[in-house]
Amino acid sequence: MENTEKKIIFSGIQPTGTFTLGNYIGAISNWAKLQEEYNCIYSIVDMHAITVKQEPAKLRQHTIEAYALIMACGVDPNKSIAFIQSHNTNHAEANWILSCSTQFGELSRMTQFKAKSEKHPDDINAGLFTYPVLMAGDILLYNADLVPIGADQKQHLELARNVAQRFNQKYSETFKIPEPYIPDVGARVMSLADPTKKMSKSDENQNGCIYILDDKDTIVRKFKKAVTDSEAKVRYAQGKDGINNLMTIYSVVTGKSFDEIEREFDGKGYGDFKVAVGEAVADHLEPVRTKFAEYMSDKAYIKECYTKGAEAARRISSKVLRKAYKKVGFVID
Ligand code: TYM
Repeated sequence: MENTEKKIIFSGIQPTGTFTLGNYIGAISNWAKLQEEYNCIYSIVDMHAITVKQEPAKLRQHTIEAYALIMACGVDPNKSIAFIQSHNTNHAEANWILSCSTQFGELSRMTQFKAKSEKHPDDINAGLFTYPVLMAGDILLYNADLVPIGADQKQHLELARNVAQRFNQKYSETFKIPEPYIPDVGARVMSLADPTKKMSKSDENQNGCIYILDDKDTIVRKFKKAVTDSEAKVRYAQGKDGINNLMTIYSVVTGKSFDEIEREFDGKGYGDFKVAVGEAVADHLEPVRTKFAEYMSDKAYIKECYTKGAEAARRISSKVLRKAYKKVGFVID
């Protein structure tokens, strides 16, 4: 890492349980690919996770698992910086500085805040509201050029850009303005049970959500139950949300174009198609499951990696934070 000519990538994922196929296709599968061309910094964002209620012991376990999972998906801690967010307190400090350049009104417009408040009416805490500011700090602390995310995080990235621009206008050029990196295919993987909704861990119908550690039988079974339509023709078209979603998933895991997929299943029914998608996904994820088990059997190695990652993250972000402290007028030496 730290080839100064390469552009910088930052991204994060919450350790709230095993990643979904949506997390994988929309974001994580790209993290590994980007490592050759960019200086990549990836974080397990445990501080974001506590904006909704977590069981402490489970959060700790999920954080380690999430770290092992990103490695199993190809993130190499020797090529990239991979760290646990709470190990770098600069994120909490940046959050405060940036909060003072963020408007109440703009945070009120965040669709994810509205959705989560509706879902947890008994715990609409301030952290849930200011969450996008913490996320802005994550990105801005590393002068990231690009942020690989799924479509659901686009509004938060837009806010990060606005906050950075506002700070720069107020105090002079300090933060780099990041660009989103959203895949053309797979930016929004939908629930298999209701293809008008995003695939999510919190889906009430667990048949709608594929977890990347699900075994082959489970994956194929869930795909067999996927909601489709009555046309019985595999083609990508408006109004065919279920089939469009399955074609997207199949395209990402096999590398086939939509035209190729339509030809492959010409004259075949949805039953055959669903099984083919399920098997392709399960085969694609098989090495992830194997590597995850290997990493989890060596916790000392995981610890070594995240400790080294946190040191590197602190080193880079301290410089940017110090610059921001100076700009706002704090006495820094
Ligand atoms: P999180 O943890 O909810 O999701 C991690 C990544 O997975 C993507 N994603 C999806 N992509 C396609 N289809 C889906 N169904 C799907 N579900 C999730 C998300 O878009 C995301 O890229 N706030 C962030 C974490 C974060 C972050 C950051 C990301 C914190 N700081 C800084 C980028 C940069 C979140 O909750 O993602």
